[in-house]
Amino acid sequence: MPNRKLYIETYGCQMNVVDSEVVAAILLQHHYDVTEDINEADLVLVNTCSIRDNAEQRVRARIRDLRKLKEQKEQVSIGVIGCMAERLKEKLLEDESIVDLVVGPDAYRDLPALLEEVESGEKGINTILSLEETYGDIRPVRMDRNHVTSFVAIMRGCNNFCAYCVVPGTRGRERSRDPETILREASELFLNGYREVTLLGQNVNSYIWKKGDHPVRFEKLLEMVAGIDPAFRVRFATSHPKDLSDELLRLIAQYPNLCKSIHLPVQSGSSSVLERMNRRYTREHYMDRISAIRKIVPAATISTDIIAGFCGETEEEHQQTLSLMEWVAYDFAYMFKYSERPGTYASEKLKDDVPEPVKTRRLNEIIELQSRLSLKSKQQDVGRKFEVLVEGTSKKSQEQLYGRTSQNKVVVFPKKNVKPGDYVEVKVSDCTSATLIGRQV
Ligand code: SAH
Ligand code: SF4
Ligand code: F3S
Repeated sequence: MPNRKLYIETYGCQMNVVDSEVVAAILLQHHYDVTEDINEADLVLVNTCSIRDNAEQRVRARIRDLRKLKEQKEQVSIGVIGCMAERLKEKLLEDESIVDLVVGPDAYRDLPALLEEVESGEKGINTILSLEETYGDIRPVRMDRNHVTSFVAIMRGCNNFCAYCVVPGTRGRERSRDPETILREASELFLNGYREVTLLGQNVNSYIWKKGDHPVRFEKLLEMVAGIDPAFRVRFATSHPKDLSDELLRLIAQYPNLCKSIHLPVQSGSSSVLERMNRRYTREHYMDRISAIRKIVPAATISTDIIAGFCGETEEEHQQTLSLMEWVAYDFAYMFKYSERPGTYASEKLKDDVPEPVKTRRLNEIIELQSRLSLKSKQQDVGRKFEVLVEGTSKKSQEQLYGRTSQNKVVVFPKKNVKPGDYVEVKVSDCTSATLIGRQV
């Protein structure tokens, strides 16, 4: 019998990108091949995200779209995996009649067995969370486009229970992956021509591997990965402000291939909001960590995540977010309107009482301020030279290449005799708020 064809679509965060690669690896061992053409698929998997209501709505719309495919080709199976599968469980099968399969983030090893059930005409579901599963032994099947940059998951789950967040519920408890398997996977990426890896976890600073005599903490792990090769860039996400250590910052300063860019989600600039959010740090502590970055890694850019209009947020508290943004002068930010998520502490104990138009206005103020800060950050680079890792041909022009600086800024420059995966020196001559523009020197 010929292999069946798997088409997999990924929504949500980078962790989901890696999970899709793990799922592909599992199914490749069970008579499936990956296809990029949905029309030839026997199995369509949608890897989903629950972080905000609009993320779920997008997936719902996509599932409705897939109805057409199923009408044309009855034998195609449709599966929903990932965080929405975990959050909604059986309800997804009830709500969406075309869905055959619902599998949560810790149950992917069960996919082959569940697919057998589906083939015999039943619905398949497994949303059991695990305390141990890290998929550490599985070599993800890379599905990225550029073959230069990739992700390696170093831990799963989250124990932080920020009041607004579904992740501890959809991903379960925090657990770290065996460092040996992380090193092996990262080394293989380098040998296969990749030149950058991002180590992923919801809170990488709390990575800890306890087997053996000496526990391996994140700092140690990062040093080992940085030691693979000086031409292998290393990034990581996400750091939690409550546990970002000076030791980690010194390491970043010490290794040229540890990228000089730190993502440190603040969520709010107000200590009272942070307390309601259960973030377990204050505005002052966050500022202290920023000062430490400025002192120990002066070349680093700093990016963040911000939520506008969390429960009970006053105008004054909102102003504190704006003033903190100015003070830090973020180079980049992801900005969101608070979205109440069922089952979280905030949805059960706090009131989502900031009116929608006020949330929108506050978010817009945050976005406007950030575009000013982003432009300023790029303008500071005009006239300077950077080592750029080439990632590919620019979407806008075949004549242009794009890549990134260590500081994680995208640079576009005219194509010369270089290819993706090469490092080049680029002198920046111009910029927009999103991109640096330059030429090779
Ligand atoms: N583990 C990471 C990020 C997780 S989710 C961290 O701790 O920072 C990515 C971002 O989505 C969060 O940083 C937060 O800014 C945003 N987010 C999470 N839940 C949200 C909600 N209910 N409404 C709006 N934004 C939310
Ligand atoms: Fe969600 Fe907070 Fe965990 Fe990040 S640290 S995943 S925001 S609970
Ligand atoms: Fe990621 Fe969304 Fe789940 S952000 S962890 S896919 S809820």
